[in-house]
Amino acid sequence: MGACHSCPICLVLDYNWVEKVNWIEKGLSTFKERVGHSMVLRLQPPLKGPTLIFFNAEGLPGTMSPRRRSVFKDLTKLDFNYIPEKLVHRERQLQRLDTLFNQVITDQLSQNVLLTGSVGTGKTAMSKLFCTQFQARAKSSGKRVEYVFVNCRQRNTEASVMLKVVNHFQPRFPDRGFSITEMQEILRKDIKKNATHLIIVLDEADILLKKAGSDLIYGFSRFDEESPAEAPRSISLMLISQENIFEILDAASVSTFKRSNLVKFEGYDADELFDILEARVGLAFHNDTVDIELIALISDIASENGDARYGIELLEMAGHLADENKSEALNAEYVRAAKAETFSTVTKSQLAELDLQRKLFLIATARALKKKAYAGTGDVEKIYAVVCEEYNESARGHTQFWKYIKDLDANGLISTRKSGKGFVGTTTLISLPDIPASELEKMLLKMIE
Ligand SMILES: Nc1ncnc2c1ncn2[C@@H]1O[C@H](COP(=O)(O)OP(=O)(O)OP(=O)(O)O)[C@@H](O)[C@H]1O
Ligand SMILES: [Mg+2]
Repeated sequence: MGACHSCPICLVLDYNWVEKVNWIEKGLSTFKERVGHSMVLRLQPPLKGPTLIFFNAEGLPGTMSPRRRSVFKDLTKLDFNYIPEKLVHRERQLQRLDTLFNQVITDQLSQNVLLTGSVGTGKTAMSKLFCTQFQARAKSSGKRVEYVFVNCRQRNTEASVMLKVVNHFQPRFPDRGFSITEMQEILRKDIKKNATHLIIVLDEADILLKKAGSDLIYGFSRFDEESPAEAPRSISLMLISQENIFEILDAASVSTFKRSNLVKFEGYDADELFDILEARVGLAFHNDTVDIELIALISDIASENGDARYGIELLEMAGHLADENKSEALNAEYVRAAKAETFSTVTKSQLAELDLQRKLFLIATARALKKKAYAGTGDVEKIYAVVCEEYNESARGHTQFWKYIKDLDANGLISTRKSGKGFVGTTTLISLPDIPASELEKMLLKMIE
């Protein structure tokens, strides 16, 4: 700190300077007032974190580079609700949505589309980004378009979905006392009164369909059926689901949804995830806190499921670990630790609840899957017999073995599928959905000890 040492005020700063730096950032005058000292303070433009130059009463300068308080520059950019201005590697999907919805602006028609793809592939982010951009594009063509976003995991009854839609125009609409049909009529009037076109986005629509059937979606998709043919259409639908819900929609609804209106979101590969994460690092972290190599490591890990959300989550957790350890930057150990932490505690507690036989069965499964994506039940059964021997337990018979498969499949600890393309013969195959085999085995062995 050089000359600062000769200044009594700087000693005060040294003691609790982080708080003082906050004051300084708010304004020099406040600082002077609080410390009651006449010395001059100057802030140097932030190079690597703010550097403060102190001039003591004798006018001698001294500098102090405060330790960065966090590797994060802006945590909100890692929030799952944050929508980036651009979704890299989703240009094709955006283009397709633009093309499909164009008729809403040009011919006042409606459109129904379905967005599908596995977890964390950008469906929700795309729907919001597209709707916002589309609304602006319509406006510049002199058309009014609005959108309402409903998450059907949070609202999985017809009435609650309908209420959210009606709330778009009437935020204070009472949450009970009106039937679905009455709410539909109210919506119709509101759309007309506002001379607008409403895009209804039903995110995680499969949950609504499974819980409440397809009546509501059918109703929306035929909303304008009784209006004159030349009247502007009032509602478009955007359904989002991980599965292809054409299989759960009833035939009548499927017929109003053209199959060609399916927009697919494939899982991201490691290179695509790298680009996504690199952009996010630039927004959320200070310079030089996340090495390129670490971005590659996280991309590799997340590419197993093609899941951008998981990549962002790992980044955030590794960042918090760096902060907790007062490190200037992230490192590979923090990433690995973050990865280990993301095996949900649910899995751990689920494992703990299993009886010894089921634990032995899972150890066998984990061993069979160490180098493979899928294992045949025959292989697992053989390994299971060996594992039982290791633990002086007698292996249960074939029927019981199949019961273990069924039980563990039902609670999600394993998943099964019939062998198809790419496999010899037909058999049932076992895989592990969300935990590496070696990790699973380690956890189980620890529990059994
Ligand atoms: N191409 C992309 N560019 C930048 N960020 C992305 C991209 N794709 C996804 N993300 C980010 O990844 C996270 C997950 O995306 P999103 O929530 O849209 O996934 P999803 O497909 O809706 O997943 P789920 O099926 O689990 O709901 C979000 O934080 C989102 O901003
Ligand atoms: Mg989503």
